[in-house]
Amino acid sequence: MEEKRKILCPSILNLAIDHIREEIEKLDATDMDIYHVDIMDGRFVPNFAMSVRELEMIRRITDKGHKRLIDCHMMVMEPHRYVEMMAKAGADIIYIHPESELIPSATLEQIQRLGKKTGLVLNPCTSLESVRSMLPITDYVMVMGVNPGFAGRDFMPYTREKFAELNQYRQDHGLSYHLVLDGGATKEVISDLYHNCGIEGYVLGKQELFFQKEDYAACIDRIRGF
Ligand code: DX5
Ligand code: ZN
Repeated sequence: MEEKRKILCPSILNLAIDHIREEIEKLDATDMDIYHVDIMDGRFVPNFAMSVRELEMIRRITDKGHKRLIDCHMMVMEPHRYVEMMAKAGADIIYIHPESELIPSATLEQIQRLGKKTGLVLNPCTSLESVRSMLPITDYVMVMGVNPGFAGRDFMPYTREKFAELNQYRQDHGLSYHLVLDGGATKEVISDLYHNCGIEGYVLGKQELFFQKEDYAACIDRIRGF
């Protein structure tokens, strides 16, 4: 199986919030790919997280640096009410959960009209079948390896099958969506999904990137070798 270059996405939720500007500048100087920004409304998931202000700040910092992409993971009810706001704040990729909308396909089309990349996120309980018809209009498919809402949870092994399934489906149907893991990305999980299931994208949390002994640049290089 041909192996793609990894897409590495630091999860900003894990940053030491006291030094957010300096930390983003340090991340920006590494060989990372996409900032992962978790937006939570306290309803779709039982937690609150970042919002438009953080997104705008990351946009400003990276635009003066390496001009990285920013994704926005909408863990909110009815995200169609906010996607324009997120696009204006500087998101390049907007991920929605299909369960958060009555008509998720309409929200994906709205994201396309805004000139942004579309993303679908599958919870551990969400099947490929339930999103199958939307895959041709989806640029990024993110599969949760944990129940969403919190950082630092352990990868749930039963989600592995869905990664393999989505990769097989992509090949069989000549589709080009990217496949990304969110949650529980340890060395073992990354290495298995990358080499055995054809998954190229990884949201990175505390397990391999934040609060490590090495600096960000060294961690990113190490993860590229997993
Ligand atoms: C979970 C969030 C993740 C989280 C992943 O709902 O979407 O982005 O930060 O972090 P880890 O890798 O720590 O599980
Ligand atoms: Zn996320």
